Amino acid sequence: MNRFDGQVALITGGASGIGLATARRLLDEGAQVVLLDRDEAALSAAVAELGSGAHARVADVADAAGIDALVAEVATTLGRIDVLVTAAGVDRCDTVVNTSLEEWRTIMDVDLDGVFYICRSTIPVFVRQGGGAIVTISSAIGTVGERNRSAYCAAKSGVENLTRAMALDHGAEGVRANCVAPGLIDTPLIANGKVAGGSDTALMDSMIAAHHAIPRIGQPSEVASAIAFLASADASFVTGAILAVDAGWTAA
Ligand SMILES: NC(=O)c1ccc[n+]([C@@H]2O[C@H](COP(=O)([O-])OP(=O)(O)OC[C@H]3O[C@@H](n4cnc5c(N)ncnc54)[C@H](O)[C@@H]3O)[C@@H](O)[C@H]2O)c1
Repeated sequence: MNRFDGQVALITGGASGIGLATARRLLDEGAQVVLLDRDEAALSAAVAELGSGAHARVADVADAAGIDALVAEVATTLGRIDVLVTAAGVDRCDTVVNTSLEEWRTIMDVDLDGVFYICRSTIPVFVRQGGGAIVTISSAIGTVGERNRSAYCAAKSGVENLTRAMALDHGAEGVRANCVAPGLIDTPLIANGKVAGGSDTALMDSMIAAHHAIPRIGQPSEVASAIAFLASADASFVTGAILAVDAGWTAA
């Protein structure tokens, strides 16, 4: 008996990094997975790699109406949604003064509003079914501040408290909402040079030395195992939690 047998998991940002690793993990544990991503080519490759039980949906998490329609379609086509993982995210690095209005808006649209939209569409499906589990993704720097990352810090902090609020509002309806807050994880987000100011390995090494008590970068599968725990019945009495998967960053 697998932990997710018979369940359907909807994963935003499922075409890459932490979202893709989570899809792999939940699929291995018996779920059907629906990968939602705006990158159509990466999505096709991901679903081809994952094989049967994996479904692709091209969408932008910042499009509230589109997300509403997509969640309704997935619930009808696959018959249910049991798990929602909100892994879609973008990053921009700078101080408040050096962040353009457009950059601020993009981070908020995707990293915070995008989480709100899909939770707002999915929670009624969970309630109709008698329950479901949400796992959001924050960051170590949603919990503590960091230089030159103002918009991202603000959005991720918002995700953490949004998660707590949803846990309180919907616990009695069988909905659990939890969050994982990763440290530096080896994904295209970092390889693309959007984190820590560039794909500069010396800078990345210095961040790891400064922040990780376990002195290495994390792997997406190590975040996926924490997400799988929170999404599963093993965490049946856990809601409103922010689980640090950050090599000790926020223990300091
Ligand atoms: N990698 C890290 O070090 C790290 C650390 C802490 C938190 N996180 C968070 O983890 C989550 C996953 O990041 P990752 O590192 O796996 O990055 P990633 O770039 O590998 O994956 C993110 C995915 O989200 C998709 N996406 C972006 N904007 C979207 C939109 N508007 N609509 C639909 N899909 C969209 C991208 O196409 C991509 O496939 C993000 O929320 C990120 O902020 C990452």
